[in-house]
Amino acid sequence: MNDFADVLEEAELQAGGMRAVDVDGVRVLVSRSEDGGVCAIANRCTHVGGPLDEGERDGNVVTCPWHGSRFDLCSGEVLHGPAREPQRRFEARLREGRVEVRVS
Ligand code: FES
Repeated sequence: MNDFADVLEEAELQAGGMRAVDVDGVRVLVSRSEDGGVCAIANRCTHVGGPLDEGERDGNVVTCPWHGSRFDLCSGEVLHGPAREPQRRFEARLREGRVEVRVS
């Protein structure tokens, strides 16, 4: 599947916000930076599956609510364990007032 999926209205994702959405059965964490760009990574923590959308956001970093792993919201990189594997990242974009994500 190579197409972008329409996941949210742009207005539902304010600058500094993040939301979990379902894209073809994949839980994706979509976030918007202060400068308005959008990013998307897997919502299920690579440690043991914590829901990142229920964690705290600090700048472009999210902390998993279960054991405190920290991930970059755009690259998925692990900034602090116990997780060792990065979050999968996806392409995300704004188009005609909608947020779109490609899971491929
Ligand atoms: S499940 Fe996310 S840090 Fe353990």
